[in-house]
Amino acid sequence: MNLSVQIGNLTMPNPVTVASGTFGYGVEYARLLDLNQLGAVVVKGIRLNPVRGHPTPRTAEVTSGLLNAIGLQGPGVDGFIRKYWPFLKALKVPTIVNIWGTTVEEYAEVARRFDALGGIGALELNVSCPNLKEGGAQFGTDVKLLSQVVAACRQATKLPLITKLSPNVPNIAPYAKAAEAAGSDALSVTNSFPAMAIDIETRRPKLANVTGGLTGPCIKPIAVKLVWEAAKAVKIPIIGMGGIQNAADAIEFMMAGATAVAVGTANFYEPQTALNVIAGIREFMERHGISEARQLTGSLQIAK
Ligand SMILES: Cc1cc2nc3c(=O)[nH]c(=O)nc-3n(C[C@H](O)[C@H](O)[C@H](O)COP(=O)(O)O)c2cc1C
Repeated sequence: MNLSVQIGNLTMPNPVTVASGTFGYGVEYARLLDLNQLGAVVVKGIRLNPVRGHPTPRTAEVTSGLLNAIGLQGPGVDGFIRKYWPFLKALKVPTIVNIWGTTVEEYAEVARRFDALGGIGALELNVSCPNLKEGGAQFGTDVKLLSQVVAACRQATKLPLITKLSPNVPNIAPYAKAAEAAGSDALSVTNSFPAMAIDIETRRPKLANVTGGLTGPCIKPIAVKLVWEAAKAVKIPIIGMGGIQNAADAIEFMMAGATAVAVGTANFYEPQTALNVIAGIREFMERHGISEARQLTGSLQIAK
């Protein structure tokens, strides 16, 4: 059985990775599971300089999901290279670095710095952040800005580029197409959904930031639909994510069109989830006589 999949020129030994921001920088999970069994390790978003993030509370549990407003806390490029890269580069599996910026130039600079570092498996562009130059418009919800940021990063690096699309758009197809046309090698679908929750006794928001991003099982059917729509729009591979808790969830994403999948929120309550998903995909393939994991991709059948 061949579980390996291709994301641009990055070969993942199996189709299961972890979602940015739910797995720290890998090292935090090293005692909880064998990282070398993963398809890749995806780290928390990095911008050029260190970021403190939002005040607490930063997370709140909601029905079948999690709300978070971490505020993209991170060590910056230099801090990441100093503190975390020595550990990550010693792993057998590729590291995918999730990057962001507040201007097109900052994205490109971060991409250039990681290109120069050498040894990174791929860059994932988190475009769900406001462009300060353009008055706060989100890169991921403005087709023109999205094209600019992907094209600038494409110029800055030969590393595989994965554009992580925002779900906060009326139709994902034009965004998927724009990222592909600007040189993205793959897409990640999807990021968290804007949401909020209120403590009615105190009449206060449950997050200090008032609003945050909703993730976990409650978003899965919406995320599967977004993957299906994006897959119809582009030829490049898609990493599907949103509420994956087990192999059945992952296979659903693959059937909808995902080449690989990422486990996110589930890492917080069951750190072994990604490994269980890999075992379950293998078992499903055996049971259905499937020899290549990539045969699952887009295998959804719709009666005509
Ligand atoms: C606490 C937390 C932090 C996150 N941080 C990032 C981040 O830094 N960059 C990013 O692109 N996505 C980030 N995400 C989004 C996840 O990578 C993923 O897209 C989302 O959680 C959906 O998957 P899930 O439902 O399996 O968690 C974060 C999600 C959570 C829950």
